[in-house]
Amino acid sequence: MNVQILDSKTAIGSAVCGLICDKIREKPDCVLGLATGATPVPTYDALAAAYAQGTVSFRNVRTFNLDEYCDLPKTHKNSFYTFMQAQLFSRVDMNPANIGFLDGNADPAAESARYTAAIEEAGGIDLQLLGIGRNGHIAFNEPADAFSQESFRVALTESTRIANAGYFDDVPMPRYAITMGVGLILRARQLIMIATGESKAAAVKAMLEGPVTPQCPASALQTHPDVLVFLDPAAASLLS
Ligand code: F6R
Repeated sequence: MNVQILDSKTAIGSAVCGLICDKIREKPDCVLGLATGATPVPTYDALAAAYAQGTVSFRNVRTFNLDEYCDLPKTHKNSFYTFMQAQLFSRVDMNPANIGFLDGNADPAAESARYTAAIEEAGGIDLQLLGIGRNGHIAFNEPADAFSQESFRVALTESTRIANAGYFDDVPMPRYAITMGVGLILRARQLIMIATGESKAAAVKAMLEGPVTPQCPASALQTHPDVLVFLDPAAASLLS
């Protein structure tokens, strides 16, 4: 894995934005895998700014997001779909027909098959953006006894529920999510992992220096041939 340590979240956002814009210019109908959460927000801000400056167009870009809560309406203010609309899609010229999302209210097995087929039909994911949970999760793949493969419905762990509970002020934080599996994520041609802040330092160390184990789902990235990891100094602070 190629690890880069940059000074700040903003510097990482600009660097990752630059890589995504390069990809879009090289292949205007490229397929991007996108993540939600606080980590990619500086990247999405930089992409919106690049679009506003006229240096990139998302007109033919296709996207697939990693995960979505279950048992929450798609347009609820805390759904990941709403997050993506607010942070990126409504700020650029995305064609709504090109936005791929898991449906947290569909039958999980049928939805998983549909999503894998849709990604395959799009030609596979060219560039997948990832964040990491404090417990080493990627997407909503929590520590487990085996690496998951395709998308599946997952019970969120207490640590993940505590980390995200603050966003839910009207309805209880969902207990389940539907997420792309580790196997499906690793089929992307290139992965970009971003981790910022001290709270991610232990998970980053396990991802980069620990054994490849489903107890740290992010450690599976060690088996992928093209991974770029962007860290700020706090997230890198435990690396040897
Ligand atoms: C969300 C996702 C999650 C987050 C992770 C970190 O789509 O994939 O794995 O990347 O929970 O979340 P933040 O960025 O909020 O610290």
